[in-house]
Amino acid sequence: MIEVENLSKFYGPRLAVNNLNFTVSQGEVVGFLGPNGAGKTTTMNILCCILPASRGTARICGFDIFEQSMEIRKTIGYLPENPPVYLDMTVDDYLQFAAAVRGVAGKKIAAAADRALEKCGLKDVRRRLIGKLSKGYQQRVGLAQALIHDPKILILDEPTTGLDPLQIMEIRKLIQDLASSHTIILSSHILPEVSQICQRVVIINEGEIAAIDSLEGLTASLRKTERLRLRVRSANDDVLQSLKALEGTLSVQQEDDSAFIVESPLGSPFQDKVARLALDREWGIVELSSASMTLEDIFLKLTTEEKELAE
Ligand SMILES: Nc1ncnc2c1ncn2[C@@H]1O[C@H](COP(=O)(O)OP(=O)(O)O)[C@@H](O)[C@H]1O
Ligand SMILES: [Mg+2]
Repeated sequence: MIEVENLSKFYGPRLAVNNLNFTVSQGEVVGFLGPNGAGKTTTMNILCCILPASRGTARICGFDIFEQSMEIRKTIGYLPENPPVYLDMTVDDYLQFAAAVRGVAGKKIAAAADRALEKCGLKDVRRRLIGKLSKGYQQRVGLAQALIHDPKILILDEPTTGLDPLQIMEIRKLIQDLASSHTIILSSHILPEVSQICQRVVIINEGEIAAIDSLEGLTASLRKTERLRLRVRSANDDVLQSLKALEGTLSVQQEDDSAFIVESPLGSPFQDKVARLALDREWGIVELSSASMTLEDIFLKLTTEEKELAE
């Protein structure tokens, strides 16, 4: 549905996006994950035909971004980082205006606005001024604007930035609902957001793709061993030695006074063994948990040490 080929963008001499290649299939929800300045917005603007690429190209539903930008605009709904809403218009007026701008036929404008209001949970506030709504509701209006011409694809640039935690949950829920009927690319620099909503992530760093994979794939590819954390009430020399002597242990590190990290080969269930040992010796288990690489660790690793990974 979306095919990106060797896409690069220069701002003057500055290379902001360097040779991106990826595809998005119909119905997929893909997350662009990367720190600020990584090139997420630039890439999205190119896909939406707002910015021309310097090199390479992309096809959206088979249409080329250079040759058929008008067709592409019809298939994409875009929510930019700062929603393009007019604060002194009512929600209703604004959505009807957005529909007209998007070329929805006069007779169908009211129905299009109604549908967008319904999808975004805005019916109760349709006659309110946008400027008087909370940021969360303003963001919903931004989403409704992106949906107004019933596009197949939604491109959402940092859709939860600047919202409070409750609003963030509501917008994520809304995006999850939309995912059943749209192909979605959304960008974020917040990892839990991407892991909650997206099936696949494109990790972008300094204008380049650091990794593309499912979340499970990313975790698996960087996880070479299982790591368990055992925290006990009465740590003594015996704990360290006994854990090391346990069959299957690869290594044991003492994390602090009472916690130990036990490493074992991938796929070997080790919790039971460690638990049994701790119970037998009456160390007093305070915590026994997985200390494997979290997605947070992986993201940091990919965006700070990608050279190491490439080896
Ligand atoms: N209009 C512009 N002119 C010059 N440089 C820009 C412009 N827009 C973005 N950049 C630079 O390009 C890089 C990528 O920016 P951007 O795509 O906004 O990243 P992100 O959305 O991931 O934070 C950044 O270094 C940014 O400073
Ligand atoms: Mg951005």
